[in-house]
Amino acid sequence: MNISPAHAPAPDLAALTAALGSLASAFDIRWVEECTSTNSVLLDAPPENDGRSHVLIAARQNAGRGRRGRQWLSWPGASLTFSVLWRFAPDAPAPAGLSLAVGLALARALEKLGTSSVTLKWPNDVLVHGAKIAGILVEVLPERTLTAVIGIGLNLRLPADVVIPESGAVTDLACELGELPALETLLAAILSELHPMLTTYASTGFALLRNAWQQRNAFANLPVRVSGEELDISGLCLGVDEEGVLLVRTDEGPRRVYAGDVSLRPAP
Ligand code: ATP
Ligand code: BTN
Repeated sequence: MNISPAHAPAPDLAALTAALGSLASAFDIRWVEECTSTNSVLLDAPPENDGRSHVLIAARQNAGRGRRGRQWLSWPGASLTFSVLWRFAPDAPAPAGLSLAVGLALARALEKLGTSSVTLKWPNDVLVHGAKIAGILVEVLPERTLTAVIGIGLNLRLPADVVIPESGAVTDLACELGELPALETLLAAILSELHPMLTTYASTGFALLRNAWQQRNAFANLPVRVSGEELDISGLCLGVDEEGVLLVRTDEGPRRVYAGDVSLRPAP
């Protein structure tokens, strides 16, 4: 596929600061024209801990990544690709449910912008009308305390003829909203949901967020297949437990599945 590079203007940082209001001082926000992957950049050279959360936005990623070494495809102006480096306090909960909490924040931000039928696919996808609009990649740094790099890829206006290999249905924000909000409005909406969500997660883990996640579970009580190198089970999707572990009712009884190296699909 050959897509000519679109113009992707940098966000107006003054407008973004204004849109973030009192939260603006909680973030250090950087924009780059191009990088490999915003997750990789923050993982390879983590900014010093100055008490803020560091956000890196890229107009273009030339090696965008999904889970399990898969590719994340994006195009300048057609996608929002950014990562947030978040340092937790020493007694932070395990990061297992973190991508679910981030998905919930992203879902709420999209809903506030007017998107309807937003659901969550365990463990890291955001769907609208059943089609994938965004993916989340959480990676951790081996620092003294838990430091997470949270990558978000959101489709804004995919090129018309785009084919995304190995993917199910995909959608974008322009298709769902009719027109796109300003980049600053969109970023502020996401960061304004993400900040309190991560603060809650840091103090109480996933437990308090579980109900809200369950309400948006794309496969609630539907037949699913969960497979990976060492697992292949089918059953009814019962949702997640208080740690964000997937619960599946199989013919042999209930099973708990950790995100690791598995994928969830609707059962054929
Ligand atoms: P799972 O997370 O359940 O294993 P997944 O298909 O969502 O399955 P991920 O690793 O989460 O897999 O995401 C990477 C996949 O997302 C890629 O293999 C590709 O199929 C798909 N993908 C890549 N770019 C995009 C995009 N811009 N929009 C939607 N989907 C994409
Ligand atoms: C997935 O669906 O598997 C997760 C996709 C995550 C994509 C985002 S784009 C910003 C950040 N940089 C990356 O290389 N990946 C994440």
